[in-house]
Parts: sequence; structure tokens; C-alpha cells
Amino acid sequence: MGTATARANANIAFIKYWGNQNDQLRLPVNPSISMNLGGLYAETTVTWDGALNTDSFALNGKEEIGGGLERVSTHLDVLRARLGFATRARVESANNFPTGAGIASSAAAFAALSVAGAAAAGAQLSERELTTIARLGSGSASRSVPTGFVEWYAADTHEGSFAQSMSAPEYWDIVDVIAVVSKKHKDVGSSAGHKSANTSDLQGARVAGAGERFAICRQAIIDRDFATFAQVVEHDSNLMHAVMMTSRPPLFYWLPPTLAIMEAVREWRAEGLRVCYTLDAGPNVHCICVREDAQRVSDRLRASSDVLDVLVASPGAGAQVTTVSIP
Ligand code: PMV
Repeated sequence: MGTATARANANIAFIKYWGNQNDQLRLPVNPSISMNLGGLYAETTVTWDGALNTDSFALNGKEEIGGGLERVSTHLDVLRARLGFATRARVESANNFPTGAGIASSAAAFAALSVAGAAAAGAQLSERELTTIARLGSGSASRSVPTGFVEWYAADTHEGSFAQSMSAPEYWDIVDVIAVVSKKHKDVGSSAGHKSANTSDLQGARVAGAGERFAICRQAIIDRDFATFAQVVEHDSNLMHAVMMTSRPPLFYWLPPTLAIMEAVREWRAEGLRVCYTLDAGPNVHCICVREDAQRVSDRLRASSDVLDVLVASPGAGAQVTTVSIP
């Protein structure tokens, strides 16, 4: 029993995860592909301590109680069950990206928590198993464990739904230029969203085509074929948002600036810039572009009165243990 710190980057999905075949185990209905966002990370320290009666959790220096602590504690239960002990833990986590910037932090958080928790107990778990453990905290967290470009499989068992790297961060020099248009915390989180996905008449159609889009996107990354990549990435994002908007009750994540930027990105591409958009469960627009065009995309976004902030991320590494001490 000891203490360990791990770092995990956030990730952006090119083929989206939306809806589970098992909500408890967060087994997705379709496979997904993402890129880790280098430099946008959570750093988490876990200290297993036999003297503690309860778990505790501080986020960005602030002690969390209620829902936040409960979700962390439930994840610590998963680690305790797997590792075979009942010891409580002190968890301290911080995101290096601006808090409340509207950047989803749960993927980075649960990847870092899983990796730090196992390391602090001196357990040598395989990367594959760590992706399945991270998945139980937040589905997309499974994709923040391996390095670079990552695929996560849909399966009907806990062991079968794991994530693995399809290529290193250096494989393809693309950049995520994130246009922040709102810093508000989302009203409906993704856990609730996944549960309502099936209430949309469109979810069946989205899922039916997901395997094909996954294969096209995967091949486009392997071929570094930006034109094919752009088409399938935007299409997949549009499909997910169509499902969200037609769920009952409906989930509308877009704001007027979101739509304006999506429109601008399509125009810029028609002009010759290699850029496309994708959106998570929020209004901020991830503009994925080739390195050569990143500066122009970022300059144009910064010039827009709709854009509050611009964050830039290159393909990033997987989750890493930075320090470990086991007395
Ligand atoms: O891992 P969750 O439950 O936060 O779900 C993530 C869902 C999306 O970000 C909208 C899509 C994805 O694949 O990351």
C-alpha cells in the first residue's frame, strides 16, 4: 500500500461512443476511435491508507463531497475488488486545462485514477486490463489509457470491451484546435445521455452504420488520407448530434456560435484548408486539421467574436505513472 501519481490526457473521438448495451458496465453499442489530446491532462495522486475510515477526494485543490466523491469512491471500489483489499484512499486530482473551459475531463480523470490507483497498490496490471477498469468510471476513459490514436471495441463482456493504440502520436501530425464558445458546465451529462440514446428513432440507424464508419476512419488514419477522414468524422459527429436532438427528452448541445463555426469550417475546407469539425456532448467545436493549416485555423477562430478561447492540442501519449512510493 502506498502512493502514486499518474497523468492522463483527455481525448477527442473521431468515431463517437454514444449509448451502451450495458449501462452498469459501460459496454458501448458501437466501437469508437480517438486521439489523445497532448498537453490537456489530469494528474491524479492516490494514497491507499489503512488509517482512513472513508475515501476522500480533492479536485483542483477543492475538497469534493456528494456526487463527485461518490463517483470516485465507486471507482475505488472497482479497484479494491480487483486488487483484493478494503483499504480506503485519499485522491487528489487536478486538470491542467482551464477548469470549466467546457472540455470534458472525465476521460482523463478516470484514466489517471485507474492507473494511479493500481500503481499505488504495487499491482502490475496489463494496459489492456487498465483500459477496461477505466471504462467502468467513464466509457471514453478507456481510450485515454493507451498512447496516440486509439480504438475501443464494443463487446458484450467486461474483458472484451477494451481499448488499444492503433498508432503512436507521431504517426500523423494532425492538430485539434478547440474553439471554446461556452464555459458553462453541461446540464445533462453523458452518463444520462447514453441512457436516453435508445429513445431516439435514429439511434438504430446510427449504430447500424458505425462499424463501417469505424473501418473507414481507421483506414483513413493509416493512410493519412485527410479528405476521407474529414468526411467520415463530420458525418459521425452529425449523426450523434442528430440522435441527441431526437432523444426524448431532447438534448441540444449546439449554441448559435457552434453552428456558425461548423459552417465556417466547411467553407474553409472548400477554400483548401485541411480542417474538419467534431463535437462532443457540448457546444465547443473541435477543429481537426493538418499541422500546416493549424495556425491559419487558430487565427481565424481567434478573430471570431463567437469564440471565447482557443486551445490547441497535438496527438498525445497514453496514461503514465509519474511517481510511485510504496514503503
Ligand atoms: O465517456 P463519457 O460517458 O463521458 O461519454 C463520452 C461521449 C462523447 O464524448 C460524446 C463521445 C466520445 O466517444 O467521446
